[in-house]
Amino acid sequence: MSHHRILLTGATGFLGGTVAAKLLREERWDHVLLLVRAPTPADALVRLRKSLERFEVGEKLLKKLSSGQIICGGLDTLPEQKDDPRLARVTHVVNCAAVTSFGQNPNTYPTNVEHTLDFARKVKAFPRLERFIQVSTAMICGSAPPRVVAEDSYPAAGVHHLVGYTGSKAKAEALLRKELAGFPLVIVRPSIIVGHTRLGCKPSGSIFWGFRMADAQRMVTCDVDGVVDVIPVDYAAKALMHLMDAEELAHPTYHISAGRDSSSSFREIGHAFARALGENRPGDYRRVTYRDVAALQDQFTEIFGPGNKRAMLAAARLYGAFAGLNTVFDNQRLLAEGLEPPPRFADYLGVCVQTSRNITIAQQMAVDFE
Ligand SMILES: NC(=O)c1ccc[n+]([C@@H]2O[C@H](COP(=O)([O-])OP(=O)(O)OC[C@H]3O[C@@H](n4cnc5c(N)ncnc54)[C@H](OP(=O)(O)O)[C@@H]3O)[C@@H](O)[C@H]2O)c1
Repeated sequence: MSHHRILLTGATGFLGGTVAAKLLREERWDHVLLLVRAPTPADALVRLRKSLERFEVGEKLLKKLSSGQIICGGLDTLPEQKDDPRLARVTHVVNCAAVTSFGQNPNTYPTNVEHTLDFARKVKAFPRLERFIQVSTAMICGSAPPRVVAEDSYPAAGVHHLVGYTGSKAKAEALLRKELAGFPLVIVRPSIIVGHTRLGCKPSGSIFWGFRMADAQRMVTCDVDGVVDVIPVDYAAKALMHLMDAEELAHPTYHISAGRDSSSSFREIGHAFARALGENRPGDYRRVTYRDVAALQDQFTEIFGPGNKRAMLAAARLYGAFAGLNTVFDNQRLLAEGLEPPPRFADYLGVCVQTSRNITIAQQMAVDFE
């Protein structure tokens, strides 16, 4: 493993930041290059520091950030090797960069498809490349997946996507596989990443707002015994590193997910909220329809706190569609590579609640619609 030279993208983001914070604590940090969008390495360091502070890595470790590790640029502007000889030494690429907005961000398709392919084509020319890890999403399964999703079932034709983002990730996978045949490409698909087992929602409240909304109403628009496949970001980062470091991998595609055994039901999630909030609740969440939620619109401020009611209703609808899939992503491949199963969402949800006390649902939601 000592010969690995890593190029990491997306370190200013949630998952890439977690990976960077993990690597920063390891001896091999000096062998890591980071692609960061910034005009100068100094600016990039400011952005990186801000990202890594979310993971409480401490000042001593933050001092290890060095401009010599920075490559300024984006997926579409990675320098050519002749212009940056550091790239010729790279053996492992971990691509966490993407536009992940659930909203209608015009950069979604260009970044996640076109620029990702541009990036991969340049990486393909690295003379020492051993592995390229493309982070995709298990949600390329679209709106009507089976109860248990196997890696090889997707990407598939005719899938209806709930948001453009997942469609773009599916397209990127298909094109990467087709156009870059023979490439040492490993596609990893995390399921739903929520919080961090130790830091809760401090690094990011992404998607946790949806669970807060359901809990605030004590209502779900899906089966209370339906399950949701959630993993914490530190587990996702650990799994990514595990798949990067494995000498051989048995498969070209892996879910990083809770799977059958470690997913939580909404009943369990409701109980975990009650424990975290110190409430003695009489019962479980009530199953309602979207119309019932919409009918409460005038009371949204009281229920959810301040925020734009229409935006909250739209977000609740979308969240409800994802939450109601009642699907788990098979994680047997990952476990067979020697990784332990993830912690259950219901078991670390309390720390997410504690770290969300000073942030409103609407504020937490904003990050997913940028
Ligand atoms: N979070 C989840 O629940 C989840 C679940 C499954 C899969 N995933 C996948 O995990 C990956 C990371 O997601 P995340 O939640 O960490 O996203 P995120 O917090 O939105 O971070 C995205 C990162 O990508 C970078 N980026 C965006 N466009 C870029 C470009 N054109 N060139 C270079 N870098 C660019 C951003 O850099 P700037 O700071 O410069 O914008 C940021 O560092 C994505 O592939 C996503 O599909 C996430």
